[in-house]
Amino acid sequence: MQNLEKTLSHSYLRRVSKESYYTPDCILYVCCGSKCKKRGGKHLYKQLKSAVKEQRLRRKVQIIKTGCTDHCKRGPVVTVMPKNEWNFDVTDEKAMSLLEENAR
Ligand code: FES
Repeated sequence: MQNLEKTLSHSYLRRVSKESYYTPDCILYVCCGSKCKKRGGKHLYKQLKSAVKEQRLRRKVQIIKTGCTDHCKRGPVVTVMPKNEWNFDVTDEKAMSLLEENAR
């Protein structure tokens, strides 16, 4: 009986950990450093986060905010990984098209 409980809890833990830990296909890093924040970086971050949630894209695309990426004059900056694609002066429309492009 004790072994059964041990096995069940082990399989349960394995299942739970598979559901909790995943690696998305792509990550959009949104700069929310002070300059980018003033230029709409934080707004873009929130917009992208809610779009991912609404469209249930969590396993495909992850949105992460970063500190300054040293391209302040061209902010807001959104970087797409693993493509290593840097996007400057990103607008709301551009951010949503980046999400659409990378969620496929
Ligand atoms: S604050 Fe975004 S690049 Fe510096």
